[in-house]
Amino acid sequence: MVTPNNENSAWWIKDDYSREEIDQLVQWGLDHFWTQNHQMADLVAPGGYNIMVKGDGCYVWDIEGNKYIDAMAGLFLKNIGHNNPEVASAVAEQMTTLAYTNSGAYSSVPGILLSKKLSELAPGDLTRSFFCGGGSEAVEIALKMARQYQHISGNTGKTKFISRRGQYHGSTRGPMSVGSAGRRGAGMFDSMIPGGNIQVDPPYCYRCPWGFEDRDRGTCCMQSPRALENIIKGEDPNTIAAFIATPIPNGAQIPADEYWPAIREICDRYDIVLIADEIICGFGRLGTWFGMERFGVTPDIMTVAKALTGGELPIGGVVANQKIADAFDNAEGSDSAFQHGVTYGGHPAVMTAALKNLEIMERDNLVENSDQMGQYLYDRAMAVLQENHPSVGFVGGGLGLLMSIELVQDRKTKEPYPGGPQGDFAKYLTNKIRGYGLATRAADSITLSPPLTITKEIIDDIIDILDRAIGEAEQEFGG
Ligand SMILES: Cc1ncc(COP(=O)(O)O)c(C=O)c1O
Repeated sequence: MVTPNNENSAWWIKDDYSREEIDQLVQWGLDHFWTQNHQMADLVAPGGYNIMVKGDGCYVWDIEGNKYIDAMAGLFLKNIGHNNPEVASAVAEQMTTLAYTNSGAYSSVPGILLSKKLSELAPGDLTRSFFCGGGSEAVEIALKMARQYQHISGNTGKTKFISRRGQYHGSTRGPMSVGSAGRRGAGMFDSMIPGGNIQVDPPYCYRCPWGFEDRDRGTCCMQSPRALENIIKGEDPNTIAAFIATPIPNGAQIPADEYWPAIREICDRYDIVLIADEIICGFGRLGTWFGMERFGVTPDIMTVAKALTGGELPIGGVVANQKIADAFDNAEGSDSAFQHGVTYGGHPAVMTAALKNLEIMERDNLVENSDQMGQYLYDRAMAVLQENHPSVGFVGGGLGLLMSIELVQDRKTKEPYPGGPQGDFAKYLTNKIRGYGLATRAADSITLSPPLTITKEIIDDIIDILDRAIGEAEQEFGG
């Protein structure tokens, strides 16, 4: 039983938990709390079950009192760091004034102010926001909006979506249909996934889908827009509703400068809605407010989620451009209203968290800090990790604070360690990294996406920990 801390309304919050309390919580957690993406065998293994109890800035603490650098900003979202009291008090004020209003009938003051703020921050004429509860929902909405836009514009045959192979876009049906096949569970969900979606290979030179060995971004990356155009022509342009992609592909390799302008031009030529999935890259992650700004291209619709509230409360949304907003405004009949409604869209307390979060990001120059610290992180990773460790195959990143380090058993052949993310090497490395006080996703690749408040000193600590942990894993397994 957890003894209540009577000083707190949230009575379970305490500085210390006894051994009995920890053991009891672990058991209840295993019995009742469904841990995402994990098998029970891994959770019950020694060190397999972790309960986090506290966060502050770039750090988090587990229930045993261990302190970690949060090198993934939670899950790409604590961009302002943990425990920001300003967001908490703004939300508390809104919650004790008006916590909820039915977005199917009314607006709210923070909802209107947030959508106005987004239209100012977003590139080009991205102007009208639709809010929901999370990223997968945002992708569902973007796909439906693109489809309905085509329909009310008289393009009723434009129903298919094209996406990039290997990309994650969320876990519900629509995102699964445009997302990585590897995340669909060995075909068991196939009958649930809407058909008519096509995938094109991504610009990823380290493992070039077209077999180029020279890793010249100009020659390799630009095969991807060519392949996209071939697919469009082969399928018939009059059947394609939208192309959806993240600003940078899985693996965090920065595409060639010409890549996005070429994609934009193809979408314009064939009247295809360009959807940028900004769920990770949005809100400063790449050192600009939105990822697509790095490439000088404005999408027609962008999805947002995660760091829009700094992870303080759940949010998702899409921002559509003027052309799409106008098409809906000028349409007549029963199809003129966008056919989507969600109970939590525009929740005033959530809108408040987002508004306050954006205010803090602007005031504290966090986008600029992401740009500068991102360069430092990339330089340190190249100088220390790539230079010293044969198992470091590829360091993806260099724009802002998003990095993916691909680990291989053999640099020449690019052969991964056996077992991939479930293999012994991955498990050994994960335990080492965690043991040295770094919270991140580490398996056959290591993801780094720390809070945008990070300093050079904390980056040095991250690199030191990785240097040590990778070195020990290489000694154990060869590399
Ligand atoms: C690019 C991208 N799109 C969509 C999603 C889904 O967002 P959520 O987990 O909030 O449903 C994610 C989640 O990580 C993502 O990375």
